[in-house]
Order: sequence, then structure tokens, then C-alpha cells
Amino acid sequence: MIELNKVSKSYGPKHQKHTVLDRVSFTFESNGTYGLVGPSGSGKTTFLNILSGLDSFDNGSILVNGTEIANLGQDELSKLRRDYFSFAYQFHYLLENLTVYENCLASDLSASESDITNILENLGIGELTHKFPSQISGGERQRASLARALTKKPKILLLDEPTGNLDENNSAVVQELLLNYTKQNDCLMIYVTHDLPFAERADKILRIENKSLSF
Ligand SMILES: Nc1ncnc2c1ncn2[C@@H]1O[C@H](COP(=O)(O)OP(=O)(O)OP(=O)(O)O)[C@@H](O)[C@H]1O
Ligand SMILES: [Mg+2]
Repeated sequence: MIELNKVSKSYGPKHQKHTVLDRVSFTFESNGTYGLVGPSGSGKTTFLNILSGLDSFDNGSILVNGTEIANLGQDELSKLRRDYFSFAYQFHYLLENLTVYENCLASDLSASESDITNILENLGIGELTHKFPSQISGGERQRASLARALTKKPKILLLDEPTGNLDENNSAVVQELLLNYTKQNDCLMIYVTHDLPFAERADKILRIENKSLSF
């Protein structure tokens, strides 16, 4: 569960502050899917980043499974991210010197070969298992980074435009997989998307606009 209470976030020095989020309060249940929409530049990526402590916030409180993250140091935040979170971001951060398979394994060294192979096959990239990121397309890299995120079997999945680079068919496959995965594994998934029909498949749609979160 993630509980936000009056969370504010701004960028820039004091005299030129650019406020992105202004006293946002919301509770994400431990299991469920949340589609996050809003105009470009409204703060969606920022929002995901502060939920996991990747980015700091100015005021308010964020409890992740009961732990106040505002009070945690970098090491504790890293541990919290390792224990609970998986990410797949707009600009996928695959490790270039590892194959697709090794990238997945790196997220969870205890994952079995068959688990990883299954995930890759379900995402339609089974034949790319032993390719390096530089040898595959942008949409394939996006699916590889989703595979890596799922390999970890996270309790909380944060996805930034997971279908952004995909054609209609692959987007449908990925949507189905992610929504099924979340239901079957009782986890929490928050995904940013500009694709309204995809957002509407979530249990709840959230919109960030004018520094506020509405639902
Ligand atoms: N590190 C940063 N330093 C300063 N300003 C930033 C930083 N990161 C984001 N911003 C600003 O904060 C605002 C929100 O950015 P953010 O990336 O969260 O938007 P977004 O909703 O994810 O947009 P998009 O849909 O285009 O990805 C923007 O005005 C952006 O310019
Ligand atoms: Mg963004």
C-alpha cells in the first residue's frame, strides 16, 4: 500500500520554484491497477519517481507499506526499492553489455531459466533471449525492460508508458500480460500512458493536471 498525504514537489531554486505537484493526497491499495494520465509535462514521471524515493519531495508524507520514505537515507531507499519495486521506464535502462536474458537475471539472481524464458515468450521476444540491447529494435527493448521488471516478481510495479513504442498488436499483448500478471500475483501496478483505452482498463484512472491528482 502507498499512502500519500499532502505531497508537494517543485524543481528549481527557491526564488524560481516550478511547482509540479501541490499537496497531493491519495492511497494506492496493495493490489490493483492504476492508469495515470495527464498532459505532457504535467508531472507523471515525477510522480512515479517520488513514490519509490528515486526523486525527493518537498513537503508531505509518503508511506510505503507503513514506512515513511521522507525519513529514509539513500541506502534505506535502495533497500526499499529492491524489496518492493520494479520499474520499466520510457527510456529503458537495459544494461548494454548483457543479453536480454542476462538483463532479466540481473534483476533477480534467483529467477529460474524457465521463468525468464516464459516471460520473454509471453511478451513475444522469446527468439531474442541471447541478443544484446544494441541488436534489437526500440519496441523490443521496451518489452525486454518489461520482462526484466516482471522477472523480479515485484509487489509494486511502476511503468512509464509501457506500450509507448509498440504497434497495436504488441501493445494489446503487453496490456493483457500486465493486467493479468497484476491480478494473478496480487500486486500493485501504476502505469503512465497516453493511450486512453489502455488507461481505462485499470481499476482506477488517475489524472495529473494543474499540479493536482484527480480520480
Ligand atoms: N530534473 C528536473 N529538473 C527540473 N525540472 C524538471 C526535472 N524533471 C522534470 N522537470 C519538469 O517538471 C515537469 C514535469 O515533468 P515530468 O517529466 O514529470 O512530466 P510528464 O507528465 O512525465 O511528461 P511526459 O508525458 O512528457 O513524459 C515538467 O515541466 C518538467 O520540465
Ligand atoms: Mg514522463
